[in-house]
Amino acid sequence: MADVAHGLANAPTRPAVIGLGKLGAAMAAAFAERGLSVLGVDVDERAVDALNAGRPPAPEAGLETLIRRNRDRLGATTDTAEAVVRSDIVFVIVPTPSRSDGGFATDYAAATFRAIGAALRHKATPLTVVLTSTVLPGATRNTLLPVLEQESGKQAGVGFHLCYSPEFIALGSAVRDFLNPDFILIGEHEKVAGDRLEAFYGTVLENDAPSRRMGLENAELAKLALNAYVTNKITFANVLADLCERLPGGDVDAVTGALALDSRIGGKYLTGGAPYGGPCFPRDNAALARVAEDLKVDAGLMHAVDRNNHERPHTWARYLQAWLAPGDTVAVLGLAYKPGSHVVEAAPGLLLARELAAAGIAVVACDPMIPADAWAAYPEAEAVTLTVVDDARDAIGRARAVCLASPDPAFRDLSPDLFAGRLVVDFWRRHAGVLAGRADVTYVGAGLAPSDAP
Ligand SMILES: NC(=O)c1ccc[n+]([C@@H]2O[C@H](COP(=O)([O-])OP(=O)(O)OC[C@H]3O[C@@H](n4cnc5c(N)ncnc54)[C@H](O)[C@@H]3O)[C@@H](O)[C@H]2O)c1
Repeated sequence: MADVAHGLANAPTRPAVIGLGKLGAAMAAAFAERGLSVLGVDVDERAVDALNAGRPPAPEAGLETLIRRNRDRLGATTDTAEAVVRSDIVFVIVPTPSRSDGGFATDYAAATFRAIGAALRHKATPLTVVLTSTVLPGATRNTLLPVLEQESGKQAGVGFHLCYSPEFIALGSAVRDFLNPDFILIGEHEKVAGDRLEAFYGTVLENDAPSRRMGLENAELAKLALNAYVTNKITFANVLADLCERLPGGDVDAVTGALALDSRIGGKYLTGGAPYGGPCFPRDNAALARVAEDLKVDAGLMHAVDRNNHERPHTWARYLQAWLAPGDTVAVLGLAYKPGSHVVEAAPGLLLARELAAAGIAVVACDPMIPADAWAAYPEAEAVTLTVVDDARDAIGRARAVCLASPDPAFRDLSPDLFAGRLVVDFWRRHAGVLAGRADVTYVGAGLAPSDAP
């Protein structure tokens, strides 16, 4: 074990990825694409069987091709001990569900660390354990490290190495983002742990991303802070959109387009109109508020952002309700939280549909990533009464009002004639050019005057 204690600058070469979900499956495939043999682990046999059969355990753009291309380097098992035996670096990417107080539950991560620790007890060669799941500051050191030390009978920095290293990928471009990140964030328990992980990234990344190395708690905070900062930016643009709806000639794109040219600001996530959603932004902002409150720091900023975002689907639902008569149907185009994704968690279109359905309005929805026959398998299908159809023209044809909730290119080329006689609410203003001036359409673009928007 001398080499563990003193550390080697050599990069680990045998990675395992524990948790083959939306993030983990893409990470495993990305490592294999870079020529490494990768062992994936999941407690869900369906995920393991899928990967072993050359299929993606979770849908992700381009993942199927990548897995097929690298089949001889990709394997999966339900046995964490096997992964510990066969690997020199393990990435833990299991769920850390949001708690009702905004924090994250670490039960799955703790179970994983227990299994790693038990196998580590009998391992004679070095192992670097990397937590990738999102956690609150302090969780890696105070909650998970003791589990590893207790189960393994070994000490961090001596018997194994420990890092917290989150990813900043976007679903839909996960593999590309993995291999070409803007930067690498490494929270290290001790220097050798960070050296090993940095060396590993150096062998797998396609670009020369700079790394930022720091203590575990700083890295945990930086991960939350990054996503929360983006939610602030989106919300700021959304407030500008509200203002523009009430100003003569108001046009949020004109305003944010000018701001975007300032190098201090930039144009990404400064669009205005739709609320943010998905599996990370809402919960990471709420978690940062939790952290602030726990540390007796004012969490007003995070709460204001959350409140503003939360209110937007209600506001639009009220607007549509005021326009509709009993028995009318609304078509919601875009159920996933963004184009190219099948994920509906906190998605603006789904939240709007839920509000409308709760008010007794019939909703017909369409999303190119969610086939009608797949909708019943979504857990959300039980909570929202809506009809999902495969063809946007079909959805529009059944409805008196249409909400374009997603900027998905699949909706861009819809004939303007389809919308005749209808109210059209367009969160992303993609149809303003063809619909705003039509006498037979009531067009309302978020962030655009006239002031009859909500
Ligand atoms: N999805 C994203 O875009 C994204 C981005 C950044 C960070 N994250 C974080 O990454 C983590 C995972 O997210 P995800 O979206 O991939 O989750 P997911 O639910 O899609 O997948 C998690 C997988 O872990 C498996 N699992 C659970 N317990 C296990 C155990 N003890 N051993 C082995 N496997 C186990 C589950 O069966 C599942 O397949 C979360 O903390 C999340 O916040 C996700």
